[in-house]
Amino acid sequence: MNFDLTINPIEEIEADIELIIVVDKNFKHKFVQDRELLKKIGFKAEQDEVCLLVERDRVYVGMDSLKSANIRTAIASTMRRLSNTTYKSLKIASYMNHPKCTALFRAMVEGFILGGYNFYRYKTSKQKNPINDIYISLEEYNEYILDITKCATALNNGQITAEATNFTRDIVNTTPEDCYPATLAKIAKKLAKESSLECKILKPKELKAENMEALLAVARASRHKPRVIHLTHKPKNPKAIVTLVGKGLTYDSGGLSLKPSDYMVTMKLDKSGGSAVIGVMKAISEMNLDIEVHGFVGAVENMIGGDAYKPDDVLVAKNGKTIEVRNTDAEGRLVLADLLCYAQQEVKADYIFDFATLTGAAVVGVGQYTSAVMGNSDIPKDMIIESAKSSGELATKLDFNSYLKKTLKSEVADICNISNSRYGGAITAGQFLEEFIDEDHKDRWSHIDIAGPAFVEHTWGENPYGGSGAGVRMTIRVLEKLSRK
Ligand code: BES
Ligand code: ZN
Ligand code: ZN
Repeated sequence: MNFDLTINPIEEIEADIELIIVVDKNFKHKFVQDRELLKKIGFKAEQDEVCLLVERDRVYVGMDSLKSANIRTAIASTMRRLSNTTYKSLKIASYMNHPKCTALFRAMVEGFILGGYNFYRYKTSKQKNPINDIYISLEEYNEYILDITKCATALNNGQITAEATNFTRDIVNTTPEDCYPATLAKIAKKLAKESSLECKILKPKELKAENMEALLAVARASRHKPRVIHLTHKPKNPKAIVTLVGKGLTYDSGGLSLKPSDYMVTMKLDKSGGSAVIGVMKAISEMNLDIEVHGFVGAVENMIGGDAYKPDDVLVAKNGKTIEVRNTDAEGRLVLADLLCYAQQEVKADYIFDFATLTGAAVVGVGQYTSAVMGNSDIPKDMIIESAKSSGELATKLDFNSYLKKTLKSEVADICNISNSRYGGAITAGQFLEEFIDEDHKDRWSHIDIAGPAFVEHTWGENPYGGSGAGVRMTIRVLEKLSRK
């Protein structure tokens, strides 16, 4: 998608269609030229309500108030409405409520790219969104004189962010037959080749040498061998060092504690955390942020078979802790246990964030649109929550407590991989991971359970059916903020 910023008035721009945002429900604004027609059709200008006037080559969209989150979803809804038309270029005025605030502008750009997303890899007719050229007039609607350089930066960062999100969506939506651990490694290597990122891949031999027995046990029954991916963005004088860790289960059948068939459908989504980490690495290398970032992905497939790991097994994690397996479907935490140990051995970071579709309990607890943010300290948790808000993602805290921690006790090993209670499953999974965080990193770590929003089977806001790229936008904001400090 191409964006063109211009100071020309909107009437002077040539485009196939014009998009007009309507905030005022009485249609008083001078730009709402089709007032009577809109009323006749019954357009109420409700948030995300789209009205396409084909004969006028104008499309109107309603918005409740001039906020970033609203503009992002309104524009995404418009893009979806235009997806089966033949309009190729679109013009729009810029909407700003503050001369210095380019947030709305960035949200607008993100709305176009996120809303224009379509996953058509497996369709015989590949229907791409037809809108390819977008002209934004910086003159109209504004009482302010806008700084074109600031607008161009906002545009660029918005474009990088949204394209990285779509890149992650594509990986998540790819079938387990086409995307297995070696494929994720290949994607990471290709990304490194095309950018300034470094990429290291660990294969089973190296994983064994690193004593990652828990990760290897989960991987054992699959014909697809596991990989650990380590991507690095390393500028000269970084303002901070950040480690990102992602669960990359390219398929989760549940293992011998087999999932019921209804629950197995969509489990290609279990690589969403790892895919988000790869997407973020792509974006920060493109933005060339002044922070050192390490992205680790545990790419594994959890299958059944004669060689499968079993309930009753005791596994020794990389840090020497023993884990009693009582359910092979709680596999993500086993992979992350070893991966977190490895990441901390390799990098002493200022912050560690892990992203995982870890528990169904997180979805039950906070709903399918929200990520659950956990950890020992409020500092990294608040960084995520605040950045989620400005990025358009939803995230909320789930607090740890000492009573729930006790439910992970094992009679035969140091810890059990499931809780003995049916309540608080998202938190106990987070508290399991805590066992694999060093003392030095305890207050620098946050675990983000993206099981709900990573994959939803309908469109919502600026997100399509399927993979949403959850975690990508919020993390990019966290890293952008750190690089400005
Ligand atoms: N990948 C699943 C969690 C999940 C469920 C993600 C639904 C997205 C949607 C995870 O590996 C899992 O199976 N967790 C179990 C843990 C249980 C056995 C303690 C779960 O949540 O049921
Ligand atoms: Zn599972
Ligand atoms: Zn899983």
